[in-house]
Amino acid sequence: MTSSILGTGSALPEKIVTNDLLATIVDTNDEWIRDRTGICERRIATTETTTTLSVDAARIALEDAGISPEEIELIIVATLTPDGSMPNTACKVQAEIGATNAMCYELNAACAGFMYGVQTAHAFISSGILKHALIIGAETLSKIMDWTDRGTCVLFGDGAGAVVMGPSKEGIIAVEGGADGSKGHVLTCGNAPLINPFVRNEATSPYVDMDGQEVFKFAVRKIPEIVNALSAKGNVSPSDLDLVLLHQANKRIIQTAAKRLGLNEDIFPINLSKYGNTSAASIAILLDEANKSGQLKKGSLVALAGFGGGLTWAGILMKW
Ligand code: ACO
Repeated sequence: MTSSILGTGSALPEKIVTNDLLATIVDTNDEWIRDRTGICERRIATTETTTTLSVDAARIALEDAGISPEEIELIIVATLTPDGSMPNTACKVQAEIGATNAMCYELNAACAGFMYGVQTAHAFISSGILKHALIIGAETLSKIMDWTDRGTCVLFGDGAGAVVMGPSKEGIIAVEGGADGSKGHVLTCGNAPLINPFVRNEATSPYVDMDGQEVFKFAVRKIPEIVNALSAKGNVSPSDLDLVLLHQANKRIIQTAAKRLGLNEDIFPINLSKYGNTSAASIAILLDEANKSGQLKKGSLVALAGFGGGLTWAGILMKW
């Protein structure tokens, strides 16, 4: 017995922010952003929140799976941008959709968070502990951007994706993941300094800060390692893969990884041109698009891999 993905969904804010529009806010231009990243536009939340995007994506995934909210026993929301620290976003989703039989928690593994969540659900389901889980990746990164820093604010966007998982004879074949906390400083965002009547520590920047080149090097080294490890564990060759769904950080990262793996770029779908980097949401949104567009076919052999702040990384190999 393994677990598989029974349904997918995604939700995006209505507001589209093009590179040209960004150029009216910071000193940048469409050509620089497209050439260096592949991003043309992104969605930015104005009326939506991490919770509403999560709920919308979850409802679509449940309908796609044909599973009722009451059948869900676990909800995990992977996010680094919750609307508040308590109650957690999964509890808010539970209340909205009526998943009264679920335990609910958030998970923060930055851009690898959705993959960590899928792996957690896989462990619960394949061991028989529970049957159905709802895993969501959701972000409103726009609220943790320094909108005066052209080096970061052009890269990110808001959105959410969700999957419903359940037991299955075929599905997840192998998982791979890890973290290197010693390199955490290359991608950071804020902290909660200890401030109480007895001590007043310095606050640090509440915004995303990044050593772009170090992140780039980490990503293009780690993706081939994940895909090769998954292939070895699944007893397949990377050349057997029908699709590789990667965290959508930067087009050049994806192209370099494809090249290092010796695989055709065509099997690496890209949607970051429309949405930018949506961190924990990106693989979930991409998966929903690949599912609904028919790119994923029954029996497709697909690898998914995320990598991000922490530093964290995780992937799965599955038969669709
Ligand atoms: N518009 C115009 N010019 C810019 C912009 C911008 N938005 N941002 C930076 N520049 C300028 C810099 O000031 C610099 O100018 P200078 O040469 O006069 O000093 C020049 O462009 C080059 O800057 P670099 O930071 O060296 O540019 P680089 O080629 O490294 O590209 C980038 C930056 C796109 C961030 C790249 O490092 C990258 O792709 N890194 C991967 C990181 C990433 O994708 N992170 C996403 C989050 S992490 C994750 O999801 C895992």
